[in-house]
Parts: sequence; structure tokens; C-alpha cells
Amino acid sequence: MAPPGDRERWAPLLPTAPLRFAPDFAWGVATSAFQSEGGDVANDWVAAARAGRVPPNPGNGFWERAESDLRLVAGLGFRHYRLSVEWSRVEPERGHFDERALDRYRAICDAARAAGVTPWVNLFHFTHPLWLAAGGGLLDAAGRADFLRYVERVGRALAPSTRHFHVSNESMVYVLTSYLMGVNPPYLRDAATAFAMTRHVLALHADAYTILKGLDPQPTVATIEVYLDPRPLDRGGKAAAQRFDAWYHGALLEALATGWVRVPTREPEEIPHLRGALDLYGFNFYSSTGFAAEGPPGSYADLPDPPRDAMDRAVHPGGLEAGLLRVARALPGVPLLVTENGVPTDDESFRIRYVAAHLAALERARAQGADVRGYFHWTAVDNYEWHQGFGAASRFGLIAFDPKTRERRVKASGRWLSEVIARGVLDPSTIP
Ligand code: FCB
Repeated sequence: MAPPGDRERWAPLLPTAPLRFAPDFAWGVATSAFQSEGGDVANDWVAAARAGRVPPNPGNGFWERAESDLRLVAGLGFRHYRLSVEWSRVEPERGHFDERALDRYRAICDAARAAGVTPWVNLFHFTHPLWLAAGGGLLDAAGRADFLRYVERVGRALAPSTRHFHVSNESMVYVLTSYLMGVNPPYLRDAATAFAMTRHVLALHADAYTILKGLDPQPTVATIEVYLDPRPLDRGGKAAAQRFDAWYHGALLEALATGWVRVPTREPEEIPHLRGALDLYGFNFYSSTGFAAEGPPGSYADLPDPPRDAMDRAVHPGGLEAGLLRVARALPGVPLLVTENGVPTDDESFRIRYVAAHLAALERARAQGADVRGYFHWTAVDNYEWHQGFGAASRFGLIAFDPKTRERRVKASGRWLSEVIARGVLDPSTIP
């Protein structure tokens, strides 16, 4: 439970008047394949775990229990479920597609619909099949052609069962962590490569959009990017924050709006079919990033003593508000969906306050004109949080599970959010 006095720290961030949500506001949860399915699949994160670089991932049991999880989530009132497809399951060897794996994903989408839940299928969430990684990954033209064949194949297999696709989760974070910082597979740390990859992920998005929009019935196709909200922590951090922002958010939004890819070290390049290649913008948000003159980036908040989560990130809902408004301005006419927001904590009061504070920020953005259609919470059942594994800083779920029996238990935050959804109102007096 939160320490006494902690509530005062939250006071400036929490709503003081009821927040009302329209009946068609889309309430959902977000998950990813590898993080919830885990298992001995042939991808580069499993290989990294074998090499001792990241924790092993036994999964939370979703692959086997999807049907009952979907009923559980539906019972809490969520009408949308974001999942992803693990590429190495459906294409364990190059060019060899496993029909049983595709059938399983189709069955999961059908189970969602049977439970009254709309599935949103994301096709790439950080993990590479081993055969792709061995061949140079998406840096190679052949790997990119492989990706588009995979998109086409999965799109055709699932289109009858889902009306919504995302091409990739957080392409810019993927480039940042895997190619610029070198902290995730394939562990490259090279600016020129990262800028080339920026161009490749944008081109792949445009190509995948075209492929998916050609399916029958025609789905909606959306991006997903996390808003990092770069801010200076001191005077010396200003230039670094601006430089990072110009690439990470600036180049991305310009490319989606105009088709022009402008990144450092490369000639500007026009990808005409990238312009407007999105039916919806998926907006993830956790915290704001702070840059100082010295040292690695940290997190930014405008309160002197902000609440901090289990990853030591400061809570700053103003970043969600500012980001939604910025994307809305950059991409006029494109609806927004919060496709991830949540917090690692074992303290349920903390999670409820965090969600309430971010829903208040979302409503402020809406009141200023951002067309935000819904809120998907990250995540449903506690899952594998990459470098944290299933450790203390991994618990983003509204639902806990028993590691031995895999039995699910809805947390206080899950019951609280369920009540908000049922009433269509967030009443501040219900916030602990
Ligand atoms: C996001 C990732 C997701 C999860 C959350 C906590 O950036 O998309 O996989 O790890 O962070």
C-alpha cells in the first residue's frame, strides 16, 4: 500500500470533477504475443535469454488460455483486445508457414468476437525469427521482402476474423533500442544504421499498409508509436532534447504527413505511398523523457517531487496530453487511439491513481480538440517485461496470475477500471 502522505503528491495530477466517457469510447487492453505467450519459440529474444542477456520467458499462459482470458476481460467490460502475432510461430523457417499456428491465431480472434470483444492484431512487436536474424534482419532488402510476404500471408489468414491491423509496435523504439542504443537484439549501436533503419521501417509501413488495405474485407490499418516527450532537465539538456525530438517524433510525423523521410546522414527521400498511410494513429504513453547536460536520459516531470513507478520513472500525465495534441495537429483528420498506457507497480492504489491521472490528461486533450477514440490499458494479465522478465518491475497487469497453476486473479485496479467502464464515469471520490 502507498505510504501515508503519498496521496498529497498525487493531488495535482488527479481529476477533481467527474470525467464522463461517451458510450462509444473504446475501452481495451493491450498485449503482445511473445510477452504473454512466451515459450520455446525460434526467435532472437529466446536466443538472447539462452545466452544470459535477458531473463527467460515461460509466458503467462495466454497461448493455451486465450479463450478464458478473453471472457475474463469481456466480463470486466473491455470491448477491445490488442494482441500480436509471433512471426517465428507462423513462419518458423524461411518461407515455411505453419498452418496450425495461423489457425490458432484465427481461433483467438474468433474467440474474442464470440466474447463480444474486437480483436486488434499487430504484426510485429520487437521479436525476429532466428532465420531472419541470421540473414541480417530487416536491414537487408531480402529480409524486408520476407516481412512483406509474412504480412500478406497473415493478413489473408486473419482478415476474415479481424477488421483491425497494426503493422508494427513502436517502430521508432525498435530502431532506437535495437540499432542506435544496442540494448535489444540485434544489439547494433550505430547511428548511420539506425537512420537507415528509420527509413526502412517507414517504407515497410507504407508497403504493408498497401497490402493490408487490399484484403477483403478491407480492414483498418494503424501505426503504433510511443510518445517519449523529450524535455530538457537543465539548460545543458536543451539541445540534446531538441535533437532527439527532431528525429524521434519530428521525422516520423513529417513522414506520415507528407511522405518525405528526412533523417540525419541521409538525403531526403520521398516515399509517396507513405503519405497518409494510416487510418488511425496508435498512441502509447508511459512517461516523459528528460535530457541533462551530463549523463544518460532520465524521466521528466513538472512537479518537484513526483510519484515514481517501480522502474523509477516519474509520473507525468502532461506528456500524454501534450503528445496527443501534437500528433492531432501534425496529422489532421487522423483519429487517435491510446493503444498503451499503464504502470509497473505492486501497489494497486498507485496503479489506480496513475490511470485516473492519465484519463484526466486524455480528456483534457479531447477538450482541446484531439480526436481520441479510446483507451487501451497495458496490460491485461501480468506478462514478460523484456529486460525485467517477470520481476518486481514487470507488473503492468490489471490481472495477476499464479506462476504454478496459471490461475488468474483480478486486481483492485481491474475492478476499479471495470466500474469506470460500466458507469461511463470516473468519479474522483473512488480514487484511493
Ligand atoms: C512498451 C512496449 C510493450 C511493453 C510496455 C511496458 O513500450 O510496447 O511491449 O513492454 O512498453
